[in-house]
Amino acid sequence: MVVPQIFGALAVHFFAPHVRYFMNPPPNNRIVVLDTTLRDGEQSPGASMNKEQKLQLAHALRDLGVDVLEVGFPVSSPGDFDAAQTIARKVEGISICGLCRCHFNDITTSYEALKDAPKKRLHLFLATSPLHREFKLQMDKEEVLRRSIEAIQKARELFDDIQFSTEDGSRTEEDYLCEVVERAIEAGATTINIPDTVGYITPEEYSNCFKSLRKHVRGIDKVVLSVHCHNDLGMAVANSLMGLRAGARQIECTINGIGERAGNAALEEVVMALCTRKDFWGLETNIKTERLYPTSRLVSAITGLAIARNKAIVGQNAFAHESGIHQHGMLRHRGTYEVMRPEDVGISKTHLVLGKHSGRHSLRQRLLDLGFSLSDEQLDAVFADFKLLADKKKEVFDADLEALVSGRIAAVMTPVWALESYHLVSGTQDSPTAGVTLKHRNGFSKSASATGDGSVEAVYRAIEKATGIAVHLKDYQVSAVSVGEDALGYVTVEIIHGAQTYVARSASVDVIEASTVAFLDAINRIAALLEEASEKKVDSKSP
Ligand code: KIV
Ligand code: ZN
Repeated sequence: MVVPQIFGALAVHFFAPHVRYFMNPPPNNRIVVLDTTLRDGEQSPGASMNKEQKLQLAHALRDLGVDVLEVGFPVSSPGDFDAAQTIARKVEGISICGLCRCHFNDITTSYEALKDAPKKRLHLFLATSPLHREFKLQMDKEEVLRRSIEAIQKARELFDDIQFSTEDGSRTEEDYLCEVVERAIEAGATTINIPDTVGYITPEEYSNCFKSLRKHVRGIDKVVLSVHCHNDLGMAVANSLMGLRAGARQIECTINGIGERAGNAALEEVVMALCTRKDFWGLETNIKTERLYPTSRLVSAITGLAIARNKAIVGQNAFAHESGIHQHGMLRHRGTYEVMRPEDVGISKTHLVLGKHSGRHSLRQRLLDLGFSLSDEQLDAVFADFKLLADKKKEVFDADLEALVSGRIAAVMTPVWALESYHLVSGTQDSPTAGVTLKHRNGFSKSASATGDGSVEAVYRAIEKATGIAVHLKDYQVSAVSVGEDALGYVTVEIIHGAQTYVARSASVDVIEASTVAFLDAINRIAALLEEASEKKVDSKSP
């Protein structure tokens, strides 16, 4: 039999329909969901999260029902280590997983981060494809194999649950992939993941890849096979589903499909596909589907990554019916144009919420219904925002509340600079001029004024002058939240400072105010880092 060199490019010929596989049926129909929003998801540009945000999200993902939570890459930075350790100590009832290269030091560092978790997993990875071996690793096949085996054996001294990933596995030679997987199982891996790292494979090829592993690899029934797909060609979800159909029993995915480049397979899409078409797939997960929408909003709020209106399952338009024909059909029978119900994914039926006389308690309850469990400090801030809004706006909708919460959840809680006041002069004749007064957390204030081509630019320049932090504005977006002429303006800004991108958002009935608060929040993230760095410098100089 001719063995193809690479699954992605040539496998179709090899896996012709007449080839028959004599395989055992997959062990069961329960799919393990490994969520990697906090690891691969965080690799989306501008999506970095601080420790508190990661912890808040980790609790939400546990409540959603994911089985394994990949919390980061502990050796990559002290921040990642700290967040992984905190989650390992505080989030119970779920397996906590850390990513790790095949280096002994990485393994022991990951163990230090994860050791307090009652259930923990180490996720080792090493690239296996010809391109990665030659150009990235500069290792030959034997070396990659040897390093993988040694790392798995070392990890066995510390962990019972070990996942091994063949990075770029979907572009690896079939016979070599089988060999690596077989040896990884012998060495003690308990889950084998075949990532489609660059989103290159097709659903049929990915399915054949798993069929081949299940046919050729000794001991394959002892491990769980896992799918991990990137969305470069828009096929992450389709590829993942076909991997599961071919016998994989773990899926790795992220909420809203966030992740490196075009992202990863979206958890909510895979889960709802399995659920809605259970007749076809015959597979189940432990996900509480009615928590999908709130969790999706929380991820968007924390990362600052907006959800496209037409995004499947959780987009604003996912259940909207615009055309008359569709509306007519829906009135007769909702099944005419809807394959699932909004309430199945946690989209609430009530959109009109609290009024200006509502109290803190009702606000907390409504936010919990929407999926936001806030700290007392965050709730105080959102309550203050809500009272101001309820004074200005006739009706406060769920979407308005979500916007307020998004701004607050993502915001720096004790900012270096607080906005005391701003004013703006603008008209058709002169360049807009803005003045701002900011209060530093050490008690002193600074004022500055500046002009700009537009009002927002003038305010931003004034803030840069007052704080002494100059940035490049990479993206600025305004959208309307809910409906009506008093709708909230929702502003997202993305700025670059050094090599780092910072995203912040804010909502207000006044777009200039929302723009100012969002920009200042992004500046505050930089200011906090700069102050922390200069405090460390002073510390290291002191005797
Ligand atoms: O996409 C990929 O290959 C990965 C691995 C580290 C699992 O994220
Ligand atoms: Zn990945």
